[in-house]
Amino acid sequence: MTSKLRFYSFATLLFLVTAGWLWSGSISLQAASAADNKDAAEPVEPDMHEFMEYVFQPTFKRLKPVMAAAPADNQAWKAIKADSLILAEGGNLLLIRQPKDDAADWIKHSVQVRDFGGQLYRAAKAKDYTLARKHYESMVKNCNACHQQFAGGEHILTP
Ligand code: HEC
Repeated sequence: MTSKLRFYSFATLLFLVTAGWLWSGSISLQAASAADNKDAAEPVEPDMHEFMEYVFQPTFKRLKPVMAAAPADNQAWKAIKADSLILAEGGNLLLIRQPKDDAADWIKHSVQVRDFGGQLYRAAKAKDYTLARKHYESMVKNCNACHQQFAGGEHILTP
């Protein structure tokens, strides 16, 4: 082998080793950024009982009496808007708490609570009590549908 040839084969080898090292480095970098992905939503309270007790229950307890009759003033409409929005967005939070079994049904109930809760919120913004009451009842029906299936039929709520 001439010294020129030896130099070129060494340079090629060096290039391949460096390229391989850089490539494997970029792979492990990607794996690391996927593992600590701080952008993804994750439950603060993974226990469903605690989540329902401290997010959904007090909100529903406030909403139910103000939904009993047509709101007399803006204060009452504000109360409806606030609590319907919490429950509607709460529907989204149920989506990051899917159970291992029957997840498709869980998603369906959660999305319906989110969507009817959202329609209730919008009807309250428009100060339309008849429409608000209709969407409120549909929302509660879907709260109950999930309780029927996933809470052993307990916690059946009356609107
Ligand atoms: C996707 C399923 C799901 C949906 C939708 C859902 N819940 Fe629940 N909820 C549960 C489960 C499961 C429990 C039982 C938790 C436990 O005790 O283990 C529960 C329990 C409750 C309880 C009893 C809490 C306690 O302290 O005993 C209340 C009140 C409640 N939910 C209110 C609501 C309201 C109001 C809605 C609708 C706006 C709603 N939930 C929608 C799954 C759901």
